[in-house]
Amino acid sequence: MQRSLVLLKPDCVERKLMGQVISRFESKGLRIVAAKMLRVTPDLAKKHYAEHVEKPFYPGLEEFIISAPILALAVEGLEAITVIRNLLGATSGLKAAPGTIRGDFSCSRQMNLVHASDSEESAARELDLYFSPNEFCDYTPILTPMIQAADE
Ligand code: CMP
Repeated sequence: MQRSLVLLKPDCVERKLMGQVISRFESKGLRIVAAKMLRVTPDLAKKHYAEHVEKPFYPGLEEFIISAPILALAVEGLEAITVIRNLLGATSGLKAAPGTIRGDFSCSRQMNLVHASDSEESAARELDLYFSPNEFCDYTPILTPMIQAADE
């Protein structure tokens, strides 16, 4: 079982696509175990995107990510990190395949609607930036036996 940090970015909130994006995760069988709406500060943006801070596109990325509220989610499931990245599609909405979230709703590299952790190490670091341990809601949905086999 893995947990990933998912951010519904300012474009997702402003375009009122949160419900449709969350539906994709729920329909897949993933679980939302924490949720928080917040405004990213420049300091949090630099921590979150630490690996991009020196890149030429970073100033625009920071300006965008602080421009409106975001919804931070912790999403759980079997192999959740890869499963979620596949649901999102390629980073750029211009290249993402139809059927993926970005492929269906985005036509931009920067305004790509959703961020998701790209590894277990990133997930641990990023979840820690947005949530404290007591904000995770551990539960086993009663339909779990209809979503995965006991030995999966
Ligand atoms: P995300 O998954 O949030 O991780 C880093 C973000 O930087 C990425 O989504 C894009 O929104 C953005 N990004 C990546 N590459 C570029 C680029 N070349 N120009 C502008 N934005 C980029």
